[in-house]
Amino acid sequence: MDKNTIKIRLMEDEDFNAVVRIDEQVLKVSRPEYYEQKFERLFKSGEYLPTSLVAQDENQTIVGFIMGELYIGEYGISREGAAIDTVGVDPHYQRRGIGEKLMNEFLDHLKQLGVKKVNTLVDKNDTRMMLYFDSNNFSPSKAVINLERSI
Ligand SMILES: CC(C)(COP(=O)(O)OP(=O)(O)OC[C@H]1O[C@@H](n2cnc3c(N)ncnc32)[C@H](O)[C@@H]1OP(=O)(O)O)[C@@H](O)C(=O)NCCC(=O)NCCS
Repeated sequence: MDKNTIKIRLMEDEDFNAVVRIDEQVLKVSRPEYYEQKFERLFKSGEYLPTSLVAQDENQTIVGFIMGELYIGEYGISREGAAIDTVGVDPHYQRRGIGEKLMNEFLDHLKQLGVKKVNTLVDKNDTRMMLYFDSNNFSPSKAVINLERSI
């Protein structure tokens, strides 16, 4: 498989099963309820602009996805508030540039919509994800820190 044969397109409601399948392959747990809520919010609420993407191979099989949220508030789209919340590439297709291609198209699309900043939360101990975001030029925020306390 050559990454040039991979096509990126906007995610649709019908991609639900493929997204759940890939997420299960990468995380080794199945979480359809999580995606039911996400799909409901992103595709049916009317409060978010479509930004999530899927990558499909030459047989139209979905091999990766990136999900983002771009809220349309009272004053239009939130230019500082776009977020990436899930990304996944089928383990059989990893390290071939598909994750990078998804990211590039995702960011290009947001840029065209006037978004200036995109953020995401990553587990510091998840070396693969840290390296993936680092290689896509994400860096720790200087403005925001994640506060927590045990209770
Ligand atoms: C992170 C992930 C999306 C990367 O997808 P991918 O298609 O393999 O990524 P790419 O081939 O475009 O890699 C881009 C760069 O990211 C970095 N990278 C990606 N995977 C890596 C790994 N396993 N180890 C080290 N660096 C890695 C590298 O710098 C790589 O560039 P290189 O191959 O030229 O060295 C994929 O590994 C994945 O789905 N991981 C699981 C994600 C997950 O847990 N999702 C659920 C919760 S959000």
